[in-house]
Amino acid sequence: MGVTIANYAIKDPKIHNPVPVHEVLPLPVVITQDHINKRKYFVESKWFGTLDSDEEVFAIFHCENGAKASQFNVTKSFSDFKHTFEVIVPKKSQIVTCRRGIFDIDSFRFFFKFEHKE
Ligand SMILES: *[C@@H]1O[C@H](CO)[C@@H](O)[C@H](O)[C@H]1NC(C)=O
Repeated sequence: MGVTIANYAIKDPKIHNPVPVHEVLPLPVVITQDHINKRKYFVESKWFGTLDSDEEVFAIFHCENGAKASQFNVTKSFSDFKHTFEVIVPKKSQIVTCRRGIFDIDSFRFFFKFEHKE
């Protein structure tokens, strides 16, 4: 396991001996709708943090309300910083709830929702 020192800690003159931290943090998802199939969405799950760039992480994704995600668990490198999942929504109009995460030794898991309309 690699451990990196965050850039802001190095630059802060009040912190004399920053301790290396191993942490993954989420960035907000970016969701786009397919132009042709309006029930299809692309969900960009993004992250940052202080892991080594080549460290292996698992991008996890799951949706509820009958919405089907293309993948559940994808192996990525930390420095990919994102993975795009596809979601197919079953109804003409509905709220879709999904959860996503990045797992290595540390992990996060967050829920988000979006409104589908045709
Ligand atoms: C994701 O896949 C990795 C590698 O196969 C596995 O170690 C891990 O437990 C899986 N995570 C989940 C939540 O299924």
